[in-house]
Amino acid sequence: MYTATARSCSNIAFIKYWGNRNDTLRLPANGSISMNLSGLETVTTVRFSEELTSDTLSLNGQSQTGEALRRASRHLDHIRHLAGVNLHAEVVSHNNFPTGAGIASSASAFAALTVASCAALGLDLAERELSALARLGSGSACRSVPGGYVEWYSGEDHASSYAETIAPPDHWELLDLVTIVSGEHKAIGSTSGHSLASTSPLQTARVEDTPRRLKQCRDAILRRDFELLAEVIEQDALMMHAVMMTSHPPLLYWLPATLQLIQLIRRWRADGIPACFTIDAGPNVHVITLPPHHEQLEQLLRQVDGVQTVLTASPGGPACLVSNPAE
Ligand code: PMV
Repeated sequence: MYTATARSCSNIAFIKYWGNRNDTLRLPANGSISMNLSGLETVTTVRFSEELTSDTLSLNGQSQTGEALRRASRHLDHIRHLAGVNLHAEVVSHNNFPTGAGIASSASAFAALTVASCAALGLDLAERELSALARLGSGSACRSVPGGYVEWYSGEDHASSYAETIAPPDHWELLDLVTIVSGEHKAIGSTSGHSLASTSPLQTARVEDTPRRLKQCRDAILRRDFELLAEVIEQDALMMHAVMMTSHPPLLYWLPATLQLIQLIRRWRADGIPACFTIDAGPNVHVITLPPHHEQLEQLLRQVDGVQTVLTASPGGPACLVSNPAE
């Protein structure tokens, strides 16, 4: 009673979300498409109890205070409000990917927190309602609720801004070789970054062109067309970074190794290796490839100056409840 555990994958956006129309509701400036990452997961247990005098949050065994705890509490408030309960919660969360690897965990964290908290309070919600709720914690978290290849519809209001599966995980076995060039925490996180997007004169053009990129990406996934996918996801990532670099103040996330990887990946693709890149709000490069080329590509990546490590993820399933957390 009042306790549940959920597991959720992180996700990598092929068409990026950058900028909000409404910051409080996290209604995005544009729709986005992503793949869940089965290798990079969060498992979260939530326990609501009358005995607790405040919310608590433990992340990878470390008790959290400050903004991390406040953000989790604000998210729990939405769910408490929906369930009509007023109990504090103890949240215990673990990521299976190395902390400090520079991998954002907010998507998997808020998807797992949403699914576990709703189950603990007996809220029986449809997947799209869970997705919309997760969005309130972190925009990209709404894409970690459904499984596989996922599209987030920007929507008109809270209920219509949710994500759903466009193809299941086994539709196409793309791999994401997450190439870590820095494990440092971002100076400017995505929540503040989104509010700078509209200060770039390029954001309007990027948003206006999004339906075209969404269609190309959707088509590429449905047809399993790697070349078409490579072309659109690289363009999309570069457009987002062009917006970041031209906002006030500018956000420059790249390191020399980031640019070196971009150039090498484009050269390897011209030489016949299916490889393309995308980059989130940080310097690390997500290299998308197909299984037969995985080992060769990983070896090439590890030889590049500045590369610290390479993590591999395949298409992941939906956020789900874990019946026996001890396993
Ligand atoms: O969900 P947030 O606020 O962490 O924003 C995610 C922003 C990007 O990772 C850069 C792009 C995306 O669509 O995931």
